[in-house]
Amino acid sequence: MSGVGQDRWEAGMRTMAARDLHRAPERSQFYDEVAKTALTFFQLSGKLLDVGCGSGWAERHIFPVDYHGIDPAIKEPTERLKKGFAEKLPYADDSFDSVLCYSVLQHVADPEASLAEMRRVLRVGGHVGLLICVESDDEIFLNKWTLRQACKLVWDHFFMVDMKVVPGFYPPDGFYLMIAGVKV
Ligand SMILES: C[S@@+](CC[C@H](N)C(=O)[O-])C[C@H]1O[C@@H](n2cnc3c(N)ncnc32)[C@H](O)[C@@H]1O
Repeated sequence: MSGVGQDRWEAGMRTMAARDLHRAPERSQFYDEVAKTALTFFQLSGKLLDVGCGSGWAERHIFPVDYHGIDPAIKEPTERLKKGFAEKLPYADDSFDSVLCYSVLQHVADPEASLAEMRRVLRVGGHVGLLICVESDDEIFLNKWTLRQACKLVWDHFFMVDMKVVPGFYPPDGFYLMIAGVKV
């Protein structure tokens, strides 16, 4: 793994686990609302890969797409839910119609490699939906970007179709950026 390195990545994962974000009731309500907005906004369809899928919650919200997910924290892998890293996706080129990467890029060791992999597995004309946290100093984020830097990062890999700012869960600093893009 390139980027920030294994040790820092593992420390980041521990911080995230210690906060137990997904089980906090206020977090889960916020997440549900933002998820619904995001999935309408991204307009994802067809065979979809959810990169950094966590528990795979998105499947509930985006049914009936053909859902596949990957995350290093998957405990019981199945044919559709794999254990693995965004930086090295175990899928063929051009094999998905859509890619979702929801609140993950700020936690990966190598964001550039992750975006390059998402682009590789997405078919030409396929849609990508990204949710990235920007303008935050929170220690939970391994990668900290300004709005401008985050846009540049995505723009280097995808044609950005639309962008929307969502109020942050961590006020007063930081907010979420939803980006809908396409592979050209
Ligand atoms: C804030 S959670 C978001 C999970 C899920 N997308 C969701 O919306 O519930 C961040 C996720 O990124 C995953 N993650 C961290 N590093 C990763 C990597 N290099 N590749 C793929 N997923 C990664 C973590 O295991 C965790 O599930």
